Amino acid sequence: MDITIEPGEHLQGQISVPGDKSISHRALILSSLVEGPVEIEGLLEARDTLATLNCLQKLGVEFQGDNKALKVKGVGIRGYREPDNVLNAENSATTARLLLGMLSGQPFFSTLTGDDSLRNRPMGRVCGPLKQMGAFIDGRGKGEYLPLYIRGCDLMPIHYQLPVASAQLKSALLLAALFTRGVSEIIESVPARDHTERMLAYMGGRLVKQEKKITLLAPFALKAERLQIPGDVSSASFFLVAAALHPHGELLINEVGINPTRTGIIDVLKKMGAAVKILNIRNCNGEPVADLYIQGGSSLKGIEIDGEMIPRLIDEIPVIAVAALFAEGETVIKGAAELRLKETDRLRVLTVELKKMGAVIEELPDGLVIKGKARLSGARCSSHGDHRIAMALAVAALSAGSETVIQEAEAVDISFPGFFELLQRITAVKLSAG
Ligand code: S3P
Repeated sequence: MDITIEPGEHLQGQISVPGDKSISHRALILSSLVEGPVEIEGLLEARDTLATLNCLQKLGVEFQGDNKALKVKGVGIRGYREPDNVLNAENSATTARLLLGMLSGQPFFSTLTGDDSLRNRPMGRVCGPLKQMGAFIDGRGKGEYLPLYIRGCDLMPIHYQLPVASAQLKSALLLAALFTRGVSEIIESVPARDHTERMLAYMGGRLVKQEKKITLLAPFALKAERLQIPGDVSSASFFLVAAALHPHGELLINEVGINPTRTGIIDVLKKMGAAVKILNIRNCNGEPVADLYIQGGSSLKGIEIDGEMIPRLIDEIPVIAVAALFAEGETVIKGAAELRLKETDRLRVLTVELKKMGAVIEELPDGLVIKGKARLSGARCSSHGDHRIAMALAVAALSAGSETVIQEAEAVDISFPGFFELLQRITAVKLSAG
């Protein structure tokens, strides 16, 4: 589907964004391991999280209701049944990698696949340590790529230093460790999002975190009656940047998760000079939540982003690149080679697509150099099937000189169904689908 967006002259309102994608995946998986019913409130109902839900259904877990109140009939730690067909993670690496960890500890055989994009994303980083724990995993490309088959078993605990800052890898190992007897230790080099650790602790898991070391003592029973999912700061980031770029922008975004492992975007916007405020901080199942208020019209300046900041904003780099186009001076992003391994090679795709609009942007092996104060003109661009590229291009389109067409715009449904409708509501721009 193509979406045509005209430049916007107005941006104002109070909005909510859908539930956090990372927390939603974890809520589905961990609730299914509780013995008894768990109600999840505010689950993200998008293609990625529905892929997790469908896989869990094939493992014998029953669900009832919708995102307002989804009832999960947890089967307990030993309650999954062997799936009678291939499990499909579709576009979702979180589904694939977290399930690989969990399936490795099951006393049965399973097969996992995904769509064209996911079948080209590396799984070896997860399979390696899972094989060390005793799982038998093999598949395409010497067992590095989906489809993979898994013969699970009684796993051994693991002591493992993560070679990459990946929350998916960390979470896969923590989930596998649930099905062991003994003490597992996982050491991070650079901290990545910690939603799995927080939710396990909230559900009574025996888990200790000391600086970069996570220690898990298995087995234990998981307990919860109700989980609430805050709004996704990654989804909010597109609206934060759109408002920051608009001379009279003003936006209040309610109930957004502000876990410090995820809020690099807020720090970066502040450093660039944007007027963002974090209001009414509260707690939601062990996760901090707040309302975010932003006013546009500040002049932004280019900055350098690298090091430990990168995992805190890895998914927001596409929209940060758009903000940088309108800042004074140069923005340099380094240490983000992982972006080449996402739904698309985001460093390449961003460079190609933003250049079509007149951006001065250069690709580095591990980052981007973006020249500010661009005069963007509308163009015919493509999301390449990547949800975050589609939404970043839409934000750029609002500040372009003429109308922009985004091809494969339906990719937004991966993480943010209703994105274009919400954008239209607060900007009143002409937006047409074709
Ligand atoms: C995620 C972790 C990150 C992130 C992805 C979601 C998660 O990926 O980019 O969108 O929910 O654990 P990596 O673990 O590959 O860094």
